[in-house]
Amino acid sequence: MKAQMQEILQKLEQVENLQDLEALRVETIGRKGFLTQQFATLKALQGEAKKAFAAELNTYKESFESLLANKKNTILVSQMKEQLVKDCVDASLFSTLRPKSQGHPIYQTMDRIIEFFVSMNFSLQTGPLIEDDFHNFEALNLPIYHPARDMQDTFYFKDSMLLRTHTSPVQIRTMQENTFPIRMIAPGSVFRRDYDLTHSPMFHQIEGLVVDSKEKVNFAHLKYILEDFLHYMFGDVRVRFRSSFFPFTEPSAEVDISCVFCKGEGCRVCSHTGWLEVLGCGIVNQKVFDAVGYEDVSGYAFGLGVERFAMLIHRVNDLRSFFETDLRVLEQF
Ligand code: PHE
Repeated sequence: MKAQMQEILQKLEQVENLQDLEALRVETIGRKGFLTQQFATLKALQGEAKKAFAAELNTYKESFESLLANKKNTILVSQMKEQLVKDCVDASLFSTLRPKSQGHPIYQTMDRIIEFFVSMNFSLQTGPLIEDDFHNFEALNLPIYHPARDMQDTFYFKDSMLLRTHTSPVQIRTMQENTFPIRMIAPGSVFRRDYDLTHSPMFHQIEGLVVDSKEKVNFAHLKYILEDFLHYMFGDVRVRFRSSFFPFTEPSAEVDISCVFCKGEGCRVCSHTGWLEVLGCGIVNQKVFDAVGYEDVSGYAFGLGVERFAMLIHRVNDLRSFFETDLRVLEQF
């Protein structure tokens, strides 16, 4: 009897599913089960022997029933866990249907430019896209009838408000709101009435401005940082400064790099000159300092078009493809 009960309890221990568990229950305490039959033999016994055997049987029955209940619970819990794992949806898994995003090529380029200047300790400044005449023109030594205003085809609103045509007004705002030393870049969108292979009515510029006491800022500093910057962006290119004109800088220069397509040999892209113009710069004109009330300082400034950089880096010849939101194009960057 004892041996048989031990065998039953051992089987119970090993049961792994509800069907086997139910079968074992029937085998043990069902109508014709082993223990049920043992209980039936009690009838034939008398006195102390009957009492003792009845007690023994009850103990077996109780422990079998409680182990059975425990086992059932364990099986149910593990089944539930299995089901949960099966039903689980991993929301972090990438769908194969969704194109993966890596940032717009213009912003990738902008980030790379910003990275360089931030590493050189420049701070980031921003200004409004809708500007007034003073910040966009007047304070930058572009008075109302100045012919140089024609260089920039402006979108005007009423009351001499306009869409900024360059990021240079951020120079003015930063100087008005701070005292020198200033060491800033201002990335952002600008607007001009222009639309062709290399111009779009909205494009991006990055402006740079450094202002400090007279002995600390000169053209050599400007030249040094821009050469370093252009090597960072384009690798092993030659850099040249060509005398130019901007009303807000004096002297002014345009900066060229040797053509990245033909390595300076001369090709269609560089109009057979071997050079590509990439930015404008100069020593801040005293008139600009006068407009913001700065005295006894010196500064340099530069401005560049992000789209032009992106076109040269990625060898894209139609700027409009950046803005047509065609995923087949954008996915290639
Ligand atoms: N603002 C000029 C432009 O849009 C670029 C520039 C900025 C030139 C600063 C010199 C100094 O063309």
